[in-house]
Amino acid sequence: MTTTSLLEIRNVYSGYRGVDILQGVNLTVDKGEMVVIIGPNGAGKSTVLKSIFGLATVRQGEIHFGDRNITRLRNDRVVRLGLCYVPQTENVFPSLTVQENLEMGAYVRTDDYSAQLEKVYSLFPPLKEKRKQAAGTLSGGQRQMVAMGRALMVDPKLLLLDEPTA
Ligand SMILES: Nc1ncnc2c1ncn2[C@@H]1O[C@H](COP(=O)(O)OP(=O)(O)OP(=O)(O)O)[C@@H](O)[C@H]1O
Ligand SMILES: [Mg+2]
Repeated sequence: MTTTSLLEIRNVYSGYRGVDILQGVNLTVDKGEMVVIIGPNGAGKSTVLKSIFGLATVRQGEIHFGDRNITRLRNDRVVRLGLCYVPQTENVFPSLTVQENLEMGAYVRTDDYSAQLEKVYSLFPPLKEKRKQAAGTLSGGQRQMVAMGRALMVDPKLLLLDEPTA
């Protein structure tokens, strides 16, 4: 693929248990660009994101991140490349504290991530206040902050947010 796009999804067919939900999806995200997917409930928006992270089965087509072909790459490998994902639901570890959730986001890092942790707390002040509280005791929006903060712990090149306005 001869492109400078950060993310490129080309002609992707993917879905669950042999049924294709996506049928020939194309999408590109360039550096510095913000791309929004809009569609009715059940249209397949989340499936686009899940296809990138190996949570839906890609039967045909290709997904590239920078110069890497990441089609069907294991999701921990995708994260190591700097592409992170905030799921729509079940996006925190409820029994872990807020801070432990954020630290889980840094599990692929081998360097000191304390500055990044402070950065996340400055973006989401309510999380600092509740850092010792179990994430399962937070409100829906606060959990979304934890999930976003966790994804930001690797300082990603590209962040994929499923229903960020929630
Ligand atoms: N794990 C799954 N197994 C089987 N079918 C699924 C699975 N997840 C989603 N689907 C189906 O795939 C289709 C698209 O779902 P998807 O979650 O991608 O929609 P969406 O556009 O994100 O909707 P919403 O706006 O409600 O979040 C739906 O028909 C749904 O029933
Ligand atoms: Mg969805």
